[in-house]
Amino acid sequence: MKIAVIGAGNVGGTLGRRWSSAGHEVVFGVRDPGAEKIRRLIAACAEGTSAALPADAAADAEVVVLAIWWHVAEEVIRGLGDLAGKILIDCTNPLDEKLQLTHGHTESGGEMIADWAPTARVVKAFNTVPWEAMADPEYGGQRPTLFFCGGDEFAAGTVRGLILDIGFEPCYVGGIEMSRYLEPLAALWIMACRVRQPGSDFAFRLIGRNGEGPQ
Ligand SMILES: NC(=O)c1ccc[n+]([C@@H]2O[C@H](COP(=O)([O-])OP(=O)(O)OC[C@H]3O[C@@H](n4cnc5c(N)ncnc54)[C@H](OP(=O)(O)O)[C@@H]3O)[C@@H](O)[C@H]2O)c1
Repeated sequence: MKIAVIGAGNVGGTLGRRWSSAGHEVVFGVRDPGAEKIRRLIAACAEGTSAALPADAAADAEVVVLAIWWHVAEEVIRGLGDLAGKILIDCTNPLDEKLQLTHGHTESGGEMIADWAPTARVVKAFNTVPWEAMADPEYGGQRPTLFFCGGDEFAAGTVRGLILDIGFEPCYVGGIEMSRYLEPLAALWIMACRVRQPGSDFAFRLIGRNGEGPQ
């Protein structure tokens, strides 16, 4: 698939590199496509990977991945142009500078993004696992659960495939309003792993009685 990854930091850089290795055509949408760090990232990706300004990257893509900080999300989405019919994967978490959730309970970042991109097929995914897991989702022979949500059936099916392509176990939980639960899950991960425990290379797994994950 043609995937535009908007933001090439920990999350965007890692997802783009993994998807390029899985055979997808990846273009990074970044503010400075010629920057040395972007050239190094492209060199680490599969052949055919490129970089462009965000709106140019999104223009030809079937899937647009939002891997930027929450406080710039609205401005960046509005700058992407018409996203009609495109799948928009929201990886963000609505956090302030103290890593506290800024929205929740009766609203969510995922729903706000769907409002800002009303013609796109929005799916929330990849917000509950650390970038280390995106780089290598093998944890002692087990794979983390990748919870995702979004009401468009075609988009949810496509994103399920992209989740499987990089080695997670997908777990679809419903419409975009389920972001109200996925975003606090990310906040729980931050508190449990980054704040209270020594390190961030931990990930959630939904586990059945016989050790199997969700289907
Ligand atoms: N870190 C994790 O493990 C993790 C896991 C799940 C979800 N998330 C969420 O994923 C998002 C990205 O996190 P990250 O860790 O990847 O952050 P990061 O490493 O700081 O990368 C952020 C990226 O956003 C770009 N950016 C910033 N302002 C921009 C603008 N106005 N227009 C276009 N691009 C802009 C930056 O580009 P420049 O290089 O040009 O500044 C950079 O490539 C956040 O919402 C975070 O909550 C993070």
